[in-house]
Amino acid sequence: MKEQLLKEFKEKFGSEGDIRSYFAPGRVNLIGEHTDYNGGHVFPCALTIGTYAIVRKREDRNFRFYSTNFESLGVIEASLDNLKYDKALDWTNYPLGVVWAFIEKGYPVDYGFDMLLFGNIPNGSGLSSSASVEVVTGVALRDLFGYDDISMIDIALFGQYSENNFSGIMDQFAIAMGKKDQAIFLDTSDLSYTYAPIKLANEKIVIACSNKKRGLGDSKYNERRAECEEALAELQTKLDIKALGELSEEEFESNKDLIKSEVRQRRAKHAVYENQRTLKAVDALKAGNLEEFGKLMNASHVSLRDDYEVTGIELDTLVENAWEQEGVIGSRMTGAGFGGCTVSIVKTDCVDKFIENVGKAYLEKIGYAADFYVVEIGDGGRVLE
Ligand code: GLA
Repeated sequence: MKEQLLKEFKEKFGSEGDIRSYFAPGRVNLIGEHTDYNGGHVFPCALTIGTYAIVRKREDRNFRFYSTNFESLGVIEASLDNLKYDKALDWTNYPLGVVWAFIEKGYPVDYGFDMLLFGNIPNGSGLSSSASVEVVTGVALRDLFGYDDISMIDIALFGQYSENNFSGIMDQFAIAMGKKDQAIFLDTSDLSYTYAPIKLANEKIVIACSNKKRGLGDSKYNERRAECEEALAELQTKLDIKALGELSEEEFESNKDLIKSEVRQRRAKHAVYENQRTLKAVDALKAGNLEEFGKLMNASHVSLRDDYEVTGIELDTLVENAWEQEGVIGSRMTGAGFGGCTVSIVKTDCVDKFIENVGKAYLEKIGYAADFYVVEIGDGGRVLE
């Protein structure tokens, strides 16, 4: 992979100088959805698929970018003297945003670079290809400019900052800090975390991409955030809390009437219960109880469907059909929702039938096909030797 990309880089940008290679994965969240901006817990892992970047520092203030995923866009050029979001710069707004974030955070970037990118995360799949581009850029900048005091957590935070903190910290954190065969149990209220081994002796993690075109997802995401903030403010009229993630189910139930709309009550309920489910799921996994983990995944989907309302017919069709298949431990939507993908834990010898049956049911109901990927849990962002 790396050798082929190096060759392409040299063809595009010339073979002189110090050319370096980097990688950052995609991520999938196993449980803990829409909790990361509510001070709750998440339980994602990094994948072995991701974004490769071949990069060479320049001696001037210019950038040249090329993505083998978007060949028709050709080489896109930009400059350090004009670092602001520009629609015409397309996907390069992501790496440029990270350059901007480094500078804002007190890490000067005085030279531009040439960058060739290749990603094998399916486009628009909801496996965080954009956060993967951000983290691979952060790893490259740290290396090229010798900023050894920047930690991988800083790189995650700079990535999140580069998007104006639009989303929570889960994606960048999982992608920066991932570890092979481990999920990350992250408390988003203070960024404390532990790793939990995912020992799947006889099961596989299967991702199903709905291939639903991106619609109103982004604005709905912000709407949910705003609803949670409002519900929190209503609870704060009586409770001394900073985030919904601080509440137990009982505390929520005995105070929910402070929330003056039925819709906001359901949104807050999801945030509280999903956080508690995540704690229980990690306990179950540690106790070797994969069955229980799967049940909690299913309950997570129901809550995202009925209370948080971020699923939609495509994701519901994938998950509800998955639940009926033989050998399915658990299945739920993952990521922001409104499209994107689902994650299922499936007994290895049932995976083929699972893909066939769920794929067929989806095509029949939705009218176009879903894509399925059996994924492995991999390491976080890194320099490729
Ligand atoms: C998106 C965001 C994350 C998180 C999820 C929902 O993936 O980028 O920060 O909020 O949605 O859990």
